[in-house]
Amino acid sequence: MASDSVKEVQARFPAYQIWQEGTPGRIRYVARGRSLRLSPHAIVTADLDELQDRLLSAGDCSEGADPVAADQPNVARMYSFWLRGKDHLAVDRSAASKVLELYPEVADIACANRAFLARAVHHLADRGITQFIDLGSGLPASPNVHETARLVTPDARVVYVDWDPVVLAHARALLATDDKVAVVASDIRDPQGLLADPALTSVIDSTAPTGVLLASVLHFLAPAEADASVAAFREWMPPGSYLVISVGTTTGTDPDLICALQDAYGDSASVHGRAADEIAAWFDGLTLVRPGLVDVWAWPTVTLHRPISSRARILAGAARKQANRLAWEL
Ligand SMILES: C[S@@+](CC[C@H](N)C(=O)[O-])C[C@H]1O[C@@H](n2cnc3c(N)ncnc32)[C@H](O)[C@@H]1O
Repeated sequence: MASDSVKEVQARFPAYQIWQEGTPGRIRYVARGRSLRLSPHAIVTADLDELQDRLLSAGDCSEGADPVAADQPNVARMYSFWLRGKDHLAVDRSAASKVLELYPEVADIACANRAFLARAVHHLADRGITQFIDLGSGLPASPNVHETARLVTPDARVVYVDWDPVVLAHARALLATDDKVAVVASDIRDPQGLLADPALTSVIDSTAPTGVLLASVLHFLAPAEADASVAAFREWMPPGSYLVISVGTTTGTDPDLICALQDAYGDSASVHGRAADEIAAWFDGLTLVRPGLVDVWAWPTVTLHRPISSRARILAGAARKQANRLAWEL
C-alpha cells in the first residue's frame, strides 16, 4: 500500500475527503468525513497505510451498520491479502500469513479461484448470459464480474451480494457505478428474501437466463444451510440459466489445513469443507459444462494458476438449466 497515492485512497473512500498536508519531511494525511454521522469523523496520521487501515475499520458507519471488528480477522480481507490486494488490516495480514507459513499454496489457490470466476463469467457471457448474481461477492478485485461480462455484452447487468458492511461499502463506492449494477446486503442463507428484494429485482429480470455465481462462499455455511441455499437458487433459476460454484472440498485436502483455516478465522467465520460427491449433488438436474467438476485451476482447461502442491483443493464447476437434458454441454 505504501506506493498508493492519496488519489487512489480517495477513490476508495468517497465518503471522506482525503488530502496530504505539511512541509517536506513533515507530511501528514487527513481524512474528514463528508457527513457528520461518520465515525470517526476525522483521522490524521503521518502514514498513508495507517490512514487506510483506520478507514477500512471504520466500515459502513454512515448507514448505521455494525462496524466490522478491527481486532478480528475477516474472511473478505484475508482473501484480499492472499490475492495480493490492498484491503486488509494488520490483524488480517497476521492471520492470513500464519496459514501461508504452513500452506503457502493457499495464496495460489485463492488467485486460481478468482481467475476461475472470470473465466466462468466470460464463458457464460459468450453463451448469451447478460445478467449475473454474484453471491458472497467479496471486496472488489479486478476484474470484477461486470467488467468481465461487459467485455462481451457492454450493458450486462450484475447484482453483487454480500453481508459484510465493509465489503458493501467498498462495492457501493467502486462497483455500483451505473443503474445496471447493484449492491445488495443479504445473507445468502435467505434466498427468498434476497430474490424478492427490490434492489435485486430492479436489475435482474426473473424470467431471463441468469448466471448465478457462488464462488468460494459455500464453505462458510453449515452443510444443511448450504444445501438449502443452493437448492433454492437452483429452483429459482429461469431455464437457460447457469449455476457456477467453487468451494473448498475435504476430498484430497489435508484435514490439518481446514483446522489451520478455522484457527485463523477464529470466531469470525466457520469453515465447512464438503466432500466431492456432496458438491456434485448441488448440480443435480442441470447439465454440467465440460470438463465437469474439477480443481479450480483446471476449469475449463489447466491454467497458469496450477498450484505446486495439492494439499489444498477448491472444486469448481458450471452447469446449465435446460428443458432437455444432455450428458454434456460443449
Ligand atoms: C472468500 S470471499 C469470496 C469472494 C468472491 N466470491 C470470489 O470468489 O472471489 C467470501 C465472501 O463471502 C461472504 N459471505 C460469507 N458468508 C456469507 C453469507 N452467509 N451471506 C452473504 N455473504 C457471505 C464474505 O463476507 C466474503 O465477502
